[in-house]
Amino acid sequence: MRIAVIGSGGREHAICHTLSISPRVEQLYALPGNAGIAQVAECVNIGVMDFDSIISFAKEKRLDLVFVAPDDPLAAGLVDRLTAEGIKSFGPCAAAAIVEGSKAFSKDFMKRHHIPTANYQIFEDCVLAKEYLARIEYPAVVKASGLALGKGVIICQNRKEAEKAVDDIMMVGKFGDAGNSVVIEEFMTGMEVSLLVFTDGTHFSCMPAAQDHKKVFDGDKGLNTGGMGAFCRSRAFTAEMLKETIENIIKPTINGLREENRIFKGVLYFGLMLTSDGVKVVEYNARFGDPETQALLPLLKTDLVDIIEAVIDEKLDKIEVKWSADDCVCVILASGGYPESYKKGHVIEIGDLDDNVILYHAGTAIRDGKLVTNGGRVLGVTACGNSIDEARALVYKIIERIKFEGMHFRKDIGVKL
Ligand code: AMP
Ligand code: GLY
Repeated sequence: MRIAVIGSGGREHAICHTLSISPRVEQLYALPGNAGIAQVAECVNIGVMDFDSIISFAKEKRLDLVFVAPDDPLAAGLVDRLTAEGIKSFGPCAAAAIVEGSKAFSKDFMKRHHIPTANYQIFEDCVLAKEYLARIEYPAVVKASGLALGKGVIICQNRKEAEKAVDDIMMVGKFGDAGNSVVIEEFMTGMEVSLLVFTDGTHFSCMPAAQDHKKVFDGDKGLNTGGMGAFCRSRAFTAEMLKETIENIIKPTINGLREENRIFKGVLYFGLMLTSDGVKVVEYNARFGDPETQALLPLLKTDLVDIIEAVIDEKLDKIEVKWSADDCVCVILASGGYPESYKKGHVIEIGDLDDNVILYHAGTAIRDGKLVTNGGRVLGVTACGNSIDEARALVYKIIERIKFEGMHFRKDIGVKL
């Protein structure tokens, strides 16, 4: 098959790496890709939101499949455009991707379908939002409804902070149109788990439960980032919890979307909070997570192309998706200053790697023949093992052999299980 993957981060490197080892893949492209992806796919400089060029490219190369990985093109309807042109694609249509694109939609959807989540109110009017802030308990969470690169969520300890958050989102317009409406919700406490499922709109297959680390510093301190590391499997997520989640969350979500004529085909990501009051949904994503994907795909034993086809053809019940019993750990190496401002272009030195380690590139480029930093999150060092501890030990051993100016990373990925 001739396949193009849309995107350029560590997640896309993991997807490309997995596809590149499939005997069914004849030619693999990444649009636009990065320096690491270039080792396994042909990178073509077309942006993820340049739909016209993506379609022309797919026709010119007679692609059999376009895999749309990031949230923005999914929310903006790239899959719908490709389908209308007769080009097969993997990912939800815009009507289904709205579960990620609009938190206002997803909260009301969960309420309609009795899916457990934090209590909330939605406001399009700043004055009404502030009146509400006078009546609630703190901490509370204020969220821009739309896509905001994972940054539109503000946890507020008191009314003053919450009023500032509402102002920043609705008046200052910090998140652009994503802040046209705000969701104000109850603060939940508990361990967070990422449960991703493949679904064809009716059937589904759960991946092993993973955990992300969103804060920049050890011990979950500092600012939120796009993710500083992930591991899989989560030990906190028990078989009982999985059963509860399937019945109370996954089935009503997939069936509810179908009933509302928003058939979801692709990867549906459930961000879950394990509260003392049961498993609740924090958020939905309409795609593979980053960096969870880097810790999940090395464990996948079934050919990803077979799964993709089964999803598109609505035959997911006809195949068995198999996973290795191992655990996997991915630690992100970030640029100095990230998630705030940082410099690009530092030379990356990489010593000997172990055969069992995969180096996923997120923000890298080649300049004058040298590998350099080209983003906030630079590399994802990943290894599998019989246990999280074994995988961790290997990852941190290899990290000692990688250097670039300003490099920083968390030392506790996979410690808090
Ligand atoms: P979201 O983009 O909605 O997933 O929010 C980003 C992060 O904010 C989540 O991963 C949680 O750590 C935190 N968060 C969001 N909503 C809540 C909530 N209601 N209670 C506690 N933490 C939350
Ligand atoms: N790891 C969270 C996300 O992909 O949004």
